Amino acid sequence: MEVLIFNKDVNASRYAAKMFAKLIRKKPAAVLGLATGSTPCLLYAELRQQHEEEGLDFSRITSFNLDEYVGLDGDHPQSYRYFMQQALFDHINVHPGKVHLPDGKSDDIPANCVDYEKNISAAGGIDLQVLGLGSDGHIGFNEPSSSLASRTRIKTLTRETREDNARFFDSADEVPQHCITMGIGTIMEARQIVLLAFGERKATAVKQVVEGPISAMWPATILQMHPSVVVLLDDAAAASLDQKDYYREVADNKPDWQRI
Ligand code: F6R
Repeated sequence: MEVLIFNKDVNASRYAAKMFAKLIRKKPAAVLGLATGSTPCLLYAELRQQHEEEGLDFSRITSFNLDEYVGLDGDHPQSYRYFMQQALFDHINVHPGKVHLPDGKSDDIPANCVDYEKNISAAGGIDLQVLGLGSDGHIGFNEPSSSLASRTRIKTLTRETREDNARFFDSADEVPQHCITMGIGTIMEARQIVLLAFGERKATAVKQVVEGPISAMWPATILQMHPSVVVLLDDAAAASLDQKDYYREVADNKPDWQRI
């Protein structure tokens, strides 16, 4: 696990955008794993800018989002489909048929989840997956106690997550109780993962993910078992890490060929 600590979230997001741009230039038909929430907003702003100003070409990419609320239509302003359209898809030259989110209004959720997994495999698997981090340690919406081998399925959100996400709704009670999320086993099959975490609200979860024991009670700790994970933090999210100085030393002394 590579841990990079930045003075500002915008700089961490620029680094993540460079990772995506490098991949897309090298592999124009790359398969991207995308996330929603506040954390990736600056990353998506940066990708929009790279598209507009540098012609970063998304025309051949395929994407799969991590999750969607159950019961919300794609045109509901709080649905993750709507979020992705506003934050990214409406502003880049992505092929509408190649962007995928779980269907929160499906009549047959288990079948929709099986199809989602099949579609990821048929696309060749995810090349680069971006993750945010829940304050309770979730990735996707794999809440504490989720199986570390889980696949795409329905989950019940914790009260903590519904309260965290209440800022997008009128109240925590309006936040849907259920979601469809890629499983932890699904996420772990991505070839490369970049986890972003910003702000002091994430510091405890970051400490667990980077330096704690692997446990289903902090689902993101499973990332310690992935061979290619980059964790991008701002100072506030990194505040509780014991080995901060070492992570900085590693970053400062990276050989040129390892830099992006
Ligand atoms: C969203 C997702 C979630 C969020 C997490 C952090 O697609 O998968 O795991 O990344 O809840 O949310 P924010 O970024 O709003 O703090």
